[in-house]
Amino acid sequence: MDRATRWRWALRAVLLATAALAWFMAPPARAQDEVPFITTPDAVTLAMLQLAGVGPQDTVLDLGSGDGRIVITAARRFGARGLGVEIVPDLVAQSQRHAQAAGVAARAEFRVQDLFATDLSPATVVTMYLLPAVNLQLRPRLLALKPGTRIVSHDWDLGDWLPDRSLTLDVPDKAIGQDKRSTVHLWVVPAPVQGLWCGAGATLQVTQRFQQFSATLTATATATATATGRAPDAAAAPVAVFDGRVGAAELVASGSRTGTSARLVLAGQTLQLREATGALSQYEGRAFTRAGAAGCPG
Ligand SMILES: C[S@@+](CC[C@H](N)C(=O)[O-])C[C@H]1O[C@@H](n2cnc3c(N)ncnc32)[C@H](O)[C@@H]1O
Repeated sequence: MDRATRWRWALRAVLLATAALAWFMAPPARAQDEVPFITTPDAVTLAMLQLAGVGPQDTVLDLGSGDGRIVITAARRFGARGLGVEIVPDLVAQSQRHAQAAGVAARAEFRVQDLFATDLSPATVVTMYLLPAVNLQLRPRLLALKPGTRIVSHDWDLGDWLPDRSLTLDVPDKAIGQDKRSTVHLWVVPAPVQGLWCGAGATLQVTQRFQQFSATLTATATATATATGRAPDAAAAPVAVFDGRVGAAELVASGSRTGTSARLVLAGQTLQLREATGALSQYEGRAFTRAGAAGCPG
């Protein structure tokens, strides 16, 4: 290979590497590039708000609010307050006109705003008709919302964060799709309970995956030694393993899989075993607090 050919190959390699780097570093496509304006039909809007149990005490946030119908219906039919954020200014102006005409402008606000730059925390109910990839982008922020916040999505789910409830409706006036059906999904944000909890004479190790948990209650070594008369350095003993569902403020194990049923209630920073069966029943009433960096004392 002569010198000129070697230079040409080297130049090609540099150009290819630069193109690959530019592609790799390009920002991911944002929702406004991907999510078109398609309205949720009225029957589906009603089903979404009913599934979330929306009422006058709620603040509904519609992410990508289009012509404003979800927030306006939440205010008009269910007495809720609402905010719609929408990237297209004309749609926001149209929503404001619709809210005026419906007599709910004081309770239904619309802003030209990127949904990714929106503070989700004031919402008690979040509604979405977006796309699967956008839902997944939002998922960590939705999961971090106040426990008990309801999330409703038209058609698209949240991947392996399975919905608490789903329903499918026939929608003859649906603008897209062959089958003229819509699915509506509901999630209730679970309390974050993952980790080690410390109680008098026992520890509770909780493993959480969205609304599912598995827990092991272990008698601490000192407590085990006292109960069995063995030396105080006797190994800690697992008392029970149980699993079930995490709600906004409680963990319920039905016992169907492990044979141990239990109900733990979260109040502030304390997790209390309110009801229990089998080996766990001797710990009924026991309160657990989160372990510090050094684990549980004793
Ligand atoms: C499928 S439409 C749903 C409209 C309305 N929520 C409904 O269900 O009838 C999605 C809307 O999201 C808006 N949108 C897309 N990207 C957005 C972004 N980054 N921030 C705010 N709105 C966005 C689109 O302009 C569109 O109006």
